[in-house]
Amino acid sequence: MRHYTLPEDFFFGAAMSGPQTEGAWRIGGKLENMWDTWSNESIDAFHNRVGSYVGNDFMARYRGDLDIMADLGLTSFRTSIQWSRLLDANGELNPQGAAWYHRLFAAAADRGLEVFVNLYHFDMPTYLFRRGGWESREVVEAYARYAQIAFREFGDEIRTWFTFNEPIVEPEQRYMTGVWYPQLHDFSRSLTVRYNISIAHCLATERFRQAQAKGEMRDDARIGLINCFSPSYTKDDPSEADLEAVRMNDGLNNRWWLDIVRDGTLPADVIETLEQRGQRLPHRPGDAQILQLGPVDWLGCNYYQPSRVQAPDAPTDSYGNPRFADAYVWPEARMNTSRGWEIYPKGIYDFGMKCKRDYPGLEFFISENGIGIEGEGRERGGDGRIEDSYRVEFVRDHLAWIARAIDEGAACRGYHYWALIDNWSWANAFKNRYGFIEVDLTQGYARRAKRSADWLKEVVATHIVR
Ligand code: NOJ
Repeated sequence: MRHYTLPEDFFFGAAMSGPQTEGAWRIGGKLENMWDTWSNESIDAFHNRVGSYVGNDFMARYRGDLDIMADLGLTSFRTSIQWSRLLDANGELNPQGAAWYHRLFAAAADRGLEVFVNLYHFDMPTYLFRRGGWESREVVEAYARYAQIAFREFGDEIRTWFTFNEPIVEPEQRYMTGVWYPQLHDFSRSLTVRYNISIAHCLATERFRQAQAKGEMRDDARIGLINCFSPSYTKDDPSEADLEAVRMNDGLNNRWWLDIVRDGTLPADVIETLEQRGQRLPHRPGDAQILQLGPVDWLGCNYYQPSRVQAPDAPTDSYGNPRFADAYVWPEARMNTSRGWEIYPKGIYDFGMKCKRDYPGLEFFISENGIGIEGEGRERGGDGRIEDSYRVEFVRDHLAWIARAIDEGAACRGYHYWALIDNWSWANAFKNRYGFIEVDLTQGYARRAKRSADWLKEVVATHIVR
């Protein structure tokens, strides 16, 4: 079988987030975030009625989990600080919350693991959500202050920072598709949220640069943004209208963020189309200067599936929202039927080539990639370990395309798998399992390596993908 070699300095790690793993939802002065509140108010919204409270019990088990990472040879992992744990309701540091993160970062350093810290992973504190959440500029300001406090508190421990994970998802899931609380279908509100998150990113980046200038950060500190970037494709023989759908899909999901983080601007053609369709961004005087603060040092790309779109079959949806693109099912698509997501490893290569061509010099890493399977665990070896050859195949194929992209000049520096250890995933709770390591909910969240973990260890050690 053909094999691929990744560069020696290519790093391997794993991604997770605070709200999906930590648990201890009201220990140590932690405030409620919207996941806790939704769990309290409407537990039926969650798969098997499993709410946010325990995560995957990481706060109790972190030392063992870090040992697993180190044993596999990983050199870094990403998690997020929970805003609702680090700060109190007055926006001041919660010393107990801070102490937990100091403990975690020290334990990681002891094991030679670098922690990549993300500041926001869909986890708005409830009291701020009640004040308007991302629809409110006061909350945007509060986020910038939170970022500043985090930089000051951990600036000498942490090198690698991110402002947001997947900024396109909350506007979509909470305000447009009606999947997450408050389950709205309102494009204008989702656009406000998207815009305000963009401003929030820029303000946090400004605070980071200020902290650097004051010497509060490590000399090698770097800031980035993580998004679920995904190339947009349409039919093989597209109409003009299909190509328009691609332009807007790519414009809203990819170029919007790439332009902010490289040029400090928003894509003019996308704004123009939005305005033609009666949509206004909630601009304030001075925002153009704020956007100019957006450029970062590098990017994270979460890649799971491609975006395939076609011309919408009606200009608006049943709620009166403008439609710019409809989903298109490629006849040759290979699917992960658990999630209904297409498996298309070449998309990762196409993203790398797009960056090389359109955003030269912008470095990135694959900050999430993985396969979630429902009902995993029916097939086990004699030793009780889950047999998950499909996971090996998925990761192998994606790494192979990364290796090709790097050979052809893409500035991809590393790979984080989502998620090394099964974790809680929003309304889906534990429905789809992603881990190389199983979490057994019937055995008090006990960890056990799946078969694929042996393969991963070998790839990490050799940098050879076969
Ligand atoms: C991306 C998100 O960042 C993460 O929170 C989620 O659990 C995974 N995708 C899997 O769906």
